[in-house]
Amino acid sequence: MFQSSAPAKVILFGEHAAVYGYPAVAAPVSSVRALAEAHSTPGTGLQIELTDLQMMFRAGPHEADNPLGKLAALLLQHFGQKPPDLTIRMRSEIPIASGMGSGAAISTALGKVLLAALDIPYTLEELNELVFEVEKFYHGTPSGIDNTVIVYEQPIFFVKDHPIEKLNIARPFRLLIGDTGDKSLTKDVVDHVRKQYESDPSGIKMIFEEIGGISAQARQHIESGSTDSLGPLMIRNHELLQKLGTSSKKLDRCVEAAVGAGALGAKLSGAGRGGNMIVLANEANEDDVKTALLRAGAVKIIDTEIKPSALLD
Ligand code: MEV
Repeated sequence: MFQSSAPAKVILFGEHAAVYGYPAVAAPVSSVRALAEAHSTPGTGLQIELTDLQMMFRAGPHEADNPLGKLAALLLQHFGQKPPDLTIRMRSEIPIASGMGSGAAISTALGKVLLAALDIPYTLEELNELVFEVEKFYHGTPSGIDNTVIVYEQPIFFVKDHPIEKLNIARPFRLLIGDTGDKSLTKDVVDHVRKQYESDPSGIKMIFEEIGGISAQARQHIESGSTDSLGPLMIRNHELLQKLGTSSKKLDRCVEAAVGAGALGAKLSGAGRGGNMIVLANEANEDDVKTALLRAGAVKIIDTEIKPSALLD
């Protein structure tokens, strides 16, 4: 039996602008994961079962019209392998369609377990490229940030089509992740932003430029340990995402409630229009912030620590 897993992710700064080549900052959430288990099942060919996403299906690599079958097909083709007699069971703790990278994490866990079972050496770069192909299938025109932060399981400063840059976290810091419980498809929100961009290229470009500048400043603060300074940057990044039309009433309510309860900053995280938001609180007000988030409609709150990858659990 072989096992593997991959983490969820949060985008700290720069979502949407990332699709257009502006910098973004993201980190893995290692405590919440997609998990895969592979069992040898002679005579079955390759079967993939996804049991806990309110659906259950079996996918062979010939069924490349679903993301998991597609990943298996791409991977086998890339490494010149025939489908093995294997049953892979997948489950995920990551809420789906909520900005935490559930699709990329499921693909990554599947890729890792299949490679382990086939005993094939590979680089993370290879795995990242394969998962990115599947991300395009899910999301249309993704930047590649989700697969990169998840495959490498490192906090990153991301610029599309550039080599990965790992963030030097000078001082670990905590974030609260508030789930609105509202599902939203990344592809739809990315499409909405593209339409905005097409109808007002110079106006939207100014927003992207400011977001890219915020990501660059955030990197400096993270790498110098002045994490409290991230708060105002989060608030401004959220305002800019509102202007792009990627927030929602509940996301705005949660952000306002968190800041009203004393948080240093808060913003939506990921594609938006539902899904998750993140909050920079401090020890003194964290409980008040959590209460305020729940009152504002958050259905779940996850605590996470942004820390150097060497310390990741
Ligand atoms: C989704 O997690 C982040 C977006 O910027 C899309 C992307 O970069 O591919 C909204």
